[in-house]
Amino acid sequence: MTTAVSSSTGPFLDQAERWTAHNYHPLPVVIASGEGAWVTDVDGRRYLDCLAGYSALNFGHRHPALIAAAHAQLDRITLTSRAFVHDQFGPFCEELAALCGKDLVLPMNTGAEAVETAIKVARKWGYKVKGVPDGQATIVVAADNFHGRTTTIISFSTDPDARADYGPYTPGFRIVPYGDLDALTSAIDDTTVAVLIEPIQGEAGVLVPPPDYLPGVRDVCTVKNVLFIADEVQSGLGRTGSTFASSPVVPDMYVLGKALGGGIVPVSAVAASHDILGVLRPGEHGSTFGGNPLACAVARAVIALLNTGEFQANARTVGAHLHERLNALVGHGLTAVRGRGLWAGIDIDPALMTGRQACEALMARGVLAKDTHGSTLRLAPPLHVTAEDVDVAVDALHAVLKS
Ligand SMILES: Cc1ncc(COP(=O)(O)O)c(C=O)c1O
Repeated sequence: MTTAVSSSTGPFLDQAERWTAHNYHPLPVVIASGEGAWVTDVDGRRYLDCLAGYSALNFGHRHPALIAAAHAQLDRITLTSRAFVHDQFGPFCEELAALCGKDLVLPMNTGAEAVETAIKVARKWGYKVKGVPDGQATIVVAADNFHGRTTTIISFSTDPDARADYGPYTPGFRIVPYGDLDALTSAIDDTTVAVLIEPIQGEAGVLVPPPDYLPGVRDVCTVKNVLFIADEVQSGLGRTGSTFASSPVVPDMYVLGKALGGGIVPVSAVAASHDILGVLRPGEHGSTFGGNPLACAVARAVIALLNTGEFQANARTVGAHLHERLNALVGHGLTAVRGRGLWAGIDIDPALMTGRQACEALMARGVLAKDTHGSTLRLAPPLHVTAEDVDVAVDALHAVLKS
């Protein structure tokens, strides 16, 4: 299956192909603008955005409140560094801590940086609070995880594309099957400082663990004095119909990113109690751009949107409609549908087409989505989509499966 490329699109695609490393394999679409859940390409064609920046655009493209916050801050000050305090920093930290129900937050920029922060904090907590012998700390993680692309993080990836050829690898991680509480429990010993998992595994294909898994992880971590770190970079901030996908389970540390920056600036953070984040001392960790005024101003507007509860509510109701419609296609070209809220992992019958072919065919019908492994697609539209938007996406998918 090939996709026709227009005369305006072609030169942009060729230029991108010529001048960048080939670390992505984008669909052949060149986007020029976006509003809400829809984007427009250089030829004026409109597409429903069902990837939403890998969930960085939970509030859609150019949400007016977020754009207004960014504009206002651009006209005042954008960067101070953490060498000085600025007037957006304290309010942002207090408001994010309140959203998370935690004492302290530490802002970074990308999701991977926040995961690295969580790992460092957990190790230091292990040595200074738990009493693990120096240099012996272990962290239990899940197979098929996705936590980012740094050398330490890919050291505990089980995806050969992410990991092979990038060794030597950082030691100190134990990998157990996702969703298997017995395996996780057996992997914990006196050296274990943390369990780091995604409450729902996104890149793996939107894998939802068994219902007793997260409560079980919580209990085991409490009993064994191990930190439960929930990587909510993709699952959090409304995507699943609640602010955090781990809810009602409360982890010891949240790792947040993506949607925290409102699709405008990269903003990530970890949030935890004073006992945990309080282990850091000046000079031990930081980032030039972490917690900058523009990031804090936009993230404060994001938190205000989340505090209305409207996005979580829409993710629940319109998400139920999405799942109902997708489930009706199981046996008619789909072999399985998983997920929660406005987040779905869809397995296409591999005999019909690959995930990539399905995405190209959806694109031709005005819907942008992204494949993950093999014949699996992810649908993760902005959280304010309507049931009619969802119908556009599912009708297009249905047509693609029948073609
Ligand atoms: C669960 C999870 N953690 C961390 C990351 C890394 O975030 P970033 O790409 O901003 O470094 C991602 C990115 O997809 C993710 O899904």
